[in-house]
Amino acid sequence: MTEHLLPDPAGLARAAALLRAGRLVAFGTETVYGLGADATDAAAVAAIFAAKDRPRFNPLISHYPDADAAFADVVAGPEARALAAAFWPGPLTLVLPRRAGSLVAPLTGAGLDTLAVRVPAPAVVRALLAAVGRPVAAPSANRSGQVSPTTAAHVAEGLGGRIAAVLDSGPCAVGVESTVVDLSGDRPRLLRPGGVPLEALVAAIGPVALGAPPADAGVLRAPGQLASHYAPGLPVRLDAATVAVDEALLAFGPPLEGATAVFNLSPGGNLAEAAARLFAGLRWLDAQARVQGIAVMPIPEAGLGRAINDRLRRAAAPR
Ligand code: TXA
Ligand code: MG
Repeated sequence: MTEHLLPDPAGLARAAALLRAGRLVAFGTETVYGLGADATDAAAVAAIFAAKDRPRFNPLISHYPDADAAFADVVAGPEARALAAAFWPGPLTLVLPRRAGSLVAPLTGAGLDTLAVRVPAPAVVRALLAAVGRPVAAPSANRSGQVSPTTAAHVAEGLGGRIAAVLDSGPCAVGVESTVVDLSGDRPRLLRPGGVPLEALVAAIGPVALGAPPADAGVLRAPGQLASHYAPGLPVRLDAATVAVDEALLAFGPPLEGATAVFNLSPGGNLAEAAARLFAGLRWLDAQARVQGIAVMPIPEAGLGRAINDRLRRAAAPR
């Protein structure tokens, strides 16, 4: 049985006690629901991979109540401090060199010499993290390869019965995962577009290189960037200019005519609203009867549109 906890003092205390005991607890961040475990407990972290059916050990993000706690585990230079000051708490993850003496289990970082750290926005989550008193590793709380969860009900669909508890703080406000920036190399690199737009990063620290660095000496520097990911059951077709009678439509702005099932991400063309509704929309369309696929209208490749298009391209990738 998976306990359903509310974000009140009793629920927070229970969630913290379970995490401290090495159990798995899902909680809602501003981006998506995370599946948390004590990042210093290798057995607890291994249980995350088992619950998600992750095929291999992708490195996980460690979550902290504040920047001081995060920077105790990694070596933060001026760019890391500038980004933390500008965007934490918030949907930004920094990849930095691990500090010698960090208690984070090697498995959390998949044995890399870097560690991904983040301070999530919701006060409830930061109160939970402070109560745990240890870094909390948390990937998105879905089965590997499936659509990320933005409500406690989504978590229960994928992981109900496989984890100790879900802390239900309602729907996630941002709706796409955190932006991942690698600051461990010679220049900043965007490894994953997310809730903090690229334009905002550039405004804070100047130029940011895009994508994974060239592979050096066989070391996988940007793991977890699997082409097929966030996949609904139905095939996904991007940049649709028309919609077939047997297709469901994921619309943005004024919808194309002819679809029977339509989920509009944002009738007014607002990217923040669209991001917040993206994963719930994919799940809803996927559950519609008598449709053979999902047609997706074009979404501008700017601001949060980069993160939305990244997730949609992965949802459309060959499986
Ligand atoms: O918004 C989020 O980031 C959510 C919430 C729960 O915080 N978490 C999340 O975790 O999306 P996950 O495991 O689904 O994605 C983590 C991403 C993966 O692409 C992983 O490869 C990358 O971060 N990552 C983690 N540690 C890394 C490292 N040391 N070097 C490079 N990439 C890393
Ligand atoms: Mg994920």
